[in-house]
Amino acid sequence: MSKIHRSIAELVGNTPLVELTNYQARHGLKAHIIGKLEYLNPSGSVKDRLAQALIEEGRANGDITDGSTLIDVTSGNTGISLAALGHAQGLKFIPYLEPGTTQERIDIFEGYGLDTHSFTDIEEVADFEEKGLVPDDLVRGITRIAEEQGYYYAGQTVRESNQEAHYRTTGPEIWEDTDGHVDYFVALGGTAGTLVGVGRYLREKNPDVKIIGVHGASSSRPDSEDFTGNIIDGTLPLGGVSEEFLPTLVKSNRDNGFRFDEIIDVRAEDAYETAQATAESDGLFLGTSAAAALTAAIEVAKRPEAAGKNIVVIYADNGFKYLSTGLYKRKKALSRDALPSAVDTDTAADTETAAVQAAAV
Ligand SMILES: Cc1ncc(COP(=O)(O)O)c(C=O)c1O
Repeated sequence: MSKIHRSIAELVGNTPLVELTNYQARHGLKAHIIGKLEYLNPSGSVKDRLAQALIEEGRANGDITDGSTLIDVTSGNTGISLAALGHAQGLKFIPYLEPGTTQERIDIFEGYGLDTHSFTDIEEVADFEEKGLVPDDLVRGITRIAEEQGYYYAGQTVRESNQEAHYRTTGPEIWEDTDGHVDYFVALGGTAGTLVGVGRYLREKNPDVKIIGVHGASSSRPDSEDFTGNIIDGTLPLGGVSEEFLPTLVKSNRDNGFRFDEIIDVRAEDAYETAQATAESDGLFLGTSAAAALTAAIEVAKRPEAAGKNIVVIYADNGFKYLSTGLYKRKKALSRDALPSAVDTDTAADTETAAVQAAAV
């Protein structure tokens, strides 16, 4: 039988798990950090899962037909998924981009032949820089635009089919590929669809599994006052803020009993260091949100109670779309224990000194 697929839409999901073997050994970690390589989805991120689910939902209820135009607000990945999977299925897409979206993503949208719009084009959130981003205001704004223009609002932040996609696919894949040995699940939250959907599934299988949400520290969020600084892409606060700023799917599923066991803050600078260290140790090349989730997973792995446990972490996308940011710009020497063990200490010390001097120029 041939293995030729008819569309990239058939290739969403079934991504592999890979343990962080070299980094663990080098740092003496006793837990197993197991990454799910979501960047192997056809358009390069975890968002292909929800994009396909949103398209299927729209088709099933008759609101999306051949040639329909979809719109959504996106930090980039959901938009790329909706463009790629939409085009593969005869649909058009118009993205409204978050501030701080990298140039690479804007270029990718151009590659798909799309016109991009900015948040600031939506009058309901035009003042978000002073006020902070209120998800409900954004939904009101984009819904109004969809109605006025005759578009379909894909609705990644509000439709339950987002988290249901993860409940149906990502969660079971993790469970099966670990033979049911999952102790912690760690992911960065944006819409929180991944966390809620996978979290619900894993808890049904094992009520003791710990669900750990990760968000950017306040200085590293796209809606921070200084969003020209280092940003963790796609992140929304999961807690520690007033209700109106929380992701809709966190609130709707909390009413059904969903809770995080813990929420970990990660600074962009720390995520960047993790990305650089694990590129060297294990050949990964993570995007900022994946590196932030991994930073939190490493923090968990260092705890005595995590020894011997399996920590599954989502690598939402890879680093190719962030090369214009500071993610892989090495501003300072890596610490000696991040250097390959084959390097003798004198050479390592020289390298470190040279790198520190270079950084000082
Ligand atoms: C790069 C990236 N990583 C992670 C996430 C978070 O995933 P979720 O929306 O399922 O919480 C997003 C969401 O916007 C994202 O763009």
